[in-house]
Amino acid sequence: MNINVFSTALDIVGDRLDGKTAIVIDVLRATSTIIQALDNGCKGVIPVKRIQDAFERAERLGRECCILGGERGCNKIDGFDLSNSPLEYTHDSVAGKIVIITTTNGTNAVIGARDAEITLIGAMINSEAVARRCVRENRDIAIICAGTHGRFSLDDISAAGAIIDDILKYTNGRAILDDLAINCSYIYRHNKNNIHQFLKTTQHYKRLSSLGYSHDIDFCFRKDTTDTVPFVKNGMIIS
Ligand code: MLT
Repeated sequence: MNINVFSTALDIVGDRLDGKTAIVIDVLRATSTIIQALDNGCKGVIPVKRIQDAFERAERLGRECCILGGERGCNKIDGFDLSNSPLEYTHDSVAGKIVIITTTNGTNAVIGARDAEITLIGAMINSEAVARRCVRENRDIAIICAGTHGRFSLDDISAAGAIIDDILKYTNGRAILDDLAINCSYIYRHNKNNIHQFLKTTQHYKRLSSLGYSHDIDFCFRKDTTDTVPFVKNGMIIS
């Protein structure tokens, strides 16, 4: 089993995902939020690129059946129900609803991964469960880090390292890592006991902290709080 890591969704070119299990990671915060929404009983999450797409999709499905969620500039979008804070996706707000979500980077990465054999939604909160699922799928793996505005983001790289370490554990070290996967694993192992200290000077972590989203960051970096492994089926993320 080979593991390749893509540093951003821009690395998805040509047939690089054909026949593979893709894991999309936007640990701060889109994929953590999607997992939380499904954990709290939403029917499914539809990722869309543009704000207008979200309104149109909700209109077609019936606005009362849908929750519009996401962000621009890390903050809630005008006319939407929820922002991109996982803590807002409680049972009371999402159970029985379809969540339509658009974020700056994460949802585009999920949509970009559509050519994979299967696309899983990964984060720190479901790292072990994602690793177990990948081992069951038994295909080569492409880990797609969403990054920030087309640039490499250390928070995603750290979460990729956590998932890689868990895959190595479940394969008795037999997975074959590309150079970026080796780097992710190294970074995670050397910082896992002090992840906030390690990431606190990084761009997206600093931005979310300065906007008052420290509780979201704490939530997103708790490891293995859920066994939910969302996957994409016909454009909708379900679990
Ligand atoms: C994104 O998709 O760019 C992020 O999830 C941004 C955020 O933290 O809200």
